[in-house]
Amino acid sequence: MSDTFHAMWRSLRPIGRSDASGGYRRYAWTGADADCRLWFQAQAEARGLDHEIDRNGNQWAWLGDPLAGDAVVTGSHLDSVPDGGAFDGPLGVVSSFAALDELRRRGAVFTRPLAITNFGDEEGARFGLACVGSRLAAGQLTTEHAHRLRDGDGVSLPQAMEAAGYDPDAIGPDPERLARIGAFVELHVEQGRALDLSGDPVGVASAIWPHGRWRFDFRGEANHAGTTRLTDRRDPMLTYAETVLAARREAELAGGLATFGKIAVEPNGVNAIPSLVRGWLDSRAADQDTLDAVVSGVERAAREYAERAGIDLDVVRESFTPVVDFQHALRDEIRRVLEKRGADGAATVPLLGTGAGHDAGILSASVPTAMLFVRNPTGISHSPAEHATEDDCVAGVRALADVLEGLACS
Ligand code: GLV
Ligand code: MN
Ligand code: MN
Repeated sequence: MSDTFHAMWRSLRPIGRSDASGGYRRYAWTGADADCRLWFQAQAEARGLDHEIDRNGNQWAWLGDPLAGDAVVTGSHLDSVPDGGAFDGPLGVVSSFAALDELRRRGAVFTRPLAITNFGDEEGARFGLACVGSRLAAGQLTTEHAHRLRDGDGVSLPQAMEAAGYDPDAIGPDPERLARIGAFVELHVEQGRALDLSGDPVGVASAIWPHGRWRFDFRGEANHAGTTRLTDRRDPMLTYAETVLAARREAELAGGLATFGKIAVEPNGVNAIPSLVRGWLDSRAADQDTLDAVVSGVERAAREYAERAGIDLDVVRESFTPVVDFQHALRDEIRRVLEKRGADGAATVPLLGTGAGHDAGILSASVPTAMLFVRNPTGISHSPAEHATEDDCVAGVRALADVLEGLACS
């Protein structure tokens, strides 16, 4: 099992990797994304699976008849955040193919169709909205909204899709496809240290926190950095900076999370006071009331600072995902399978919540979904330092194979 896992891992490893940072830059509809997609297709074909790309650009590798219904689907995504780690997304896809190899080695007899997926643009690194492929399929993102998305260079999503050889007019809800799925299971590297602390290599997801992204546009007045008196300035960078501190304070007060991790400045010159500072707030919390308290607190503070400094402020919610409580029946069935087979050598398999978004969370509104997490010894994620040990990756493959065998085989 570890041989096939490692062969895949090695072949995927160089794609979209920056030599400078050691991180991945696999953004939707770029050359690196195309190479990842070719890699996926090659893995499907090498296993005699039927490769298919749906109307939203998500990839599917089918064993059995896709039209038969009640399919068991597993997979994740291959795109990355800027300078992301090797595991977030790819671990789920590679483990899915490796789990199928393991089931074939065991001589498992499939009683339900099985599919492996690569969902497009999960991270939203290029167009600002996460889980575009699964959101479109699930009808949680309209075609019109998707067509309006633009990247930092002003390239629209339709232009990017067309340049990559896809038809942007085809995108939209795909209820017939989702209706064929009986269960979706996504394996993912843990993005925290719960498994490290509990001493378990594999866990099962309980819930995903509600989370979203808000764009704050602070508009002031461009002027000369060397000649404009401090008292004459309308500098939006100062208001932005105060807002960043407010975000930290509000998150601490309410017990949620708030991060400004991306910023765009105009005109972005060293010797010019900016005319515009655009910052994106990512906020998450264990429950909706806490999330609302954090975001409204940050917005209230930003408006006060802006008013005082003569800065115009617009706040736009760019995306939002409500709390996801993974289906209990599927989750409990998976835990039973793992505990019975001792897949990870543990008598009980821990249940964990997460603040990270996933395609499984999006799909959970339409189909029964579940997630497996693989231990991350440092908890670091969305960073080149993201890691899982070889032994834990193999334990993850074995757990996924056990789960798929329990769900899809006689
Ligand atoms: C995706 O990884 C997210 O949680 O932003
Ligand atoms: Mn991620
Ligand atoms: Mn991910």
